[in-house]
Amino acid sequence: MLRMWEFLLEATCCRSLVIIYNGACLLQIGVAAESSTDAGNAMVVDAAKVMNGTLYQGVKKSGAQNYLANLSLYPGRSELPFLPSNTQAVILQPLGDKGFIIIGGDTIRGFTSSDQAWITLISEKLDSTISKLEANIPLPIQDRFPS
Ligand SMILES: *[C@@H]1O[C@H](CO)[C@@H](O)[C@H](O)[C@H]1NC(C)=O
Ligand SMILES: *[C@@H]1O[C@H](CO)[C@@H](O)[C@H](O)[C@H]1NC(C)=O
Repeated sequence: MLRMWEFLLEATCCRSLVIIYNGACLLQIGVAAESSTDAGNAMVVDAAKVMNGTLYQGVKKSGAQNYLANLSLYPGRSELPFLPSNTQAVILQPLGDKGFIIIGGDTIRGFTSSDQAWITLISEKLDSTISKLEANIPLPIQDRFPS
């Protein structure tokens, strides 16, 4: 997982990575927006709210990656308040049918088609890993009963 992050950071314009799965935020690394209530700390990702938004519903429906190459053109960017304000491009990658990966970059059209293909490949591996973990480890009660 950390090697995936290192690769993204070194080889692409990626600056932020968020993984949301089954109603919970599994991972938030890289640059984040500052919390409005807790100065100096990262804004917490409200996973339920993000999964309820148009961006997630769109990738869930299509089952395919969505590349917002010029983020300022998409009204749905307001659903990602936890990304830093200088985020210019975002890749939304579905993770099986229960989650997704949000990758924010600091350059308009900064992700190449090979970055996109690689992210899709990683998401398939990650989905099978998470599914196996889920099968073996009992989840907290609030995660087993999504509201
Ligand atoms: C999800 O969307 C529904 C309908 O728009 C809304 O009533 C509900 O409060 C939303 N839930 C969250 C967690 O944002
Ligand atoms: C991105 O979108 C903004 C807002 O519409 C526009 O002003 C800008 O020229 C676009 N940038 C590129 C590189 O397409």
